[in-house]
Amino acid sequence: MATPVRDHVIAFLELHHKIVEAGAVDLLVKDRQPLLLCQAVLDVVGADTPIVTQEMVEEVVARRTPLRPRLTGTSLAAETPPQAPVRYAHEPFALLQEGFTPPPAHQDPLRAYARLFEDRYRRLSRMLRGRPGLGTVDPIAEIGGGAKEASIIGMVREVRTTSKQRHLVVTVEDDSGSLGVLIPRDSPLAHQPILPDEVLGLALTLPKEGGQLPRVEAIERPEVPLTRPVGRADRPHRALFLSDLHVGSKSFLEDEWGRLLGFLRGEGADADVADGIDCAVVAGDLVDGIGIYPRQERDLAIGDIVEQYTELGRRLRELPGSMPIVVVPGNHDAVSPAEPQPALAAGLAKHLPDRVRSLANPSTFALYGVVVEAYHGRSFDDLIPALPGASYSRPTDVMKRMLAMRHLAPIYGSRTPLAPLPRDGLVIDPAPDIFVTGHAHTFGVDRYREVLLLNVSTWQGETEYQKMRNISAVPARAAVVDLTQPARRSSVATIDASGRDVRVTIGEPA
Ligand SMILES: [Fe+2]
Repeated sequence: MATPVRDHVIAFLELHHKIVEAGAVDLLVKDRQPLLLCQAVLDVVGADTPIVTQEMVEEVVARRTPLRPRLTGTSLAAETPPQAPVRYAHEPFALLQEGFTPPPAHQDPLRAYARLFEDRYRRLSRMLRGRPGLGTVDPIAEIGGGAKEASIIGMVREVRTTSKQRHLVVTVEDDSGSLGVLIPRDSPLAHQPILPDEVLGLALTLPKEGGQLPRVEAIERPEVPLTRPVGRADRPHRALFLSDLHVGSKSFLEDEWGRLLGFLRGEGADADVADGIDCAVVAGDLVDGIGIYPRQERDLAIGDIVEQYTELGRRLRELPGSMPIVVVPGNHDAVSPAEPQPALAAGLAKHLPDRVRSLANPSTFALYGVVVEAYHGRSFDDLIPALPGASYSRPTDVMKRMLAMRHLAPIYGSRTPLAPLPRDGLVIDPAPDIFVTGHAHTFGVDRYREVLLLNVSTWQGETEYQKMRNISAVPARAAVVDLTQPARRSSVATIDASGRDVRVTIGEPA
């Protein structure tokens, strides 16, 4: 029987240019995180084999013990724990993959970071290979030999500007070596910012003489395909998107939250929009946490972390009906701050209603067939300073760049701590139908290559700390998406509970 997850598995493998046997699909859809297993299979199968067979999947499942990944060849990228099969048919929610995979025991942290970047390179370079703009891609160590042109795929190690001519010199590396390449200051390519640790495809003109750097003629990013099938519910369903509740803060917006609940109960003039909301997503900072910033205790109404989650449970029970509620943690939650973050520990999650699905940050899941990528958004703190013109008031612009890079938080060693895990769970694969973030405490709805972008505000008023950091919040907004038509502009409704009456605006801002 066809299920939404089956469709997602087949579509995912097709996007990676694979045909899959029916028996292989049967095995893949039984897994708790089917797309995680698909990615492990892709690593084993390699680029040259067009078919995924049942035997290949069986082999990957049997080998789900820690294996050392290689940049090339046929090793497993992911080390996933044994997982129980689950049924998805007719369920509104289907987990596709969590970004966090538990680290192997006794891992050497330095080696683990090397493996993390090897995995990132392997998976993003797979998206870039075969691009018409690149042609044949050579290992960095092998370019030259009298050729006039070459293409490489490299991870950016450093970007610097020459002191006299103000040209850009970008140092990139792959598993064979590293190379400095030149982008002249008068090239249009010099105006697009290149970020540390992103993976790029570069078409190069090679120098005639030694001592000169190859010149960059074109840059390719992993990107979202221009056209692709977009998931949609086959019956009327709506999803509510929220973020940054910050329960436990003195600044929790009690009155505004009450107005949101009234809207959800169908009170007011826009009851038809509330009607049919049957699932919800909360994109992190569920509680305000303890010790997250200097002297936070002055801003806390609840000074005990367990009591904060108990109160969160009470707030989530206020959401009407029996809708499933998907939550991921953020940087204020009581989990490891390094990303990807694991789901809430059982001792905290037990305070939440049974209908809550507590997942890792980030996570990919399907709501009635529509693929959602939920990421809290901590990396805005690194990407906004690195991207000229970017700001917290327009978080969706940064989300577009994340999608172009197919990575949520590429920069290592800045404000977003990256966890030393053998699998880079911050790679965006597949491209989702809906990409939701929070963290910015502002609100944004936009679209990028058919992906609906949502940055969904906060239910915390401005704290003294935020005022000190010059952060202007746009609180008490939520988004409601019609899952039958997520690709349509009219599919999104903005719910603004910041005023005396709830205001509902249909459609994306012009
Ligand atoms: Fe927050």
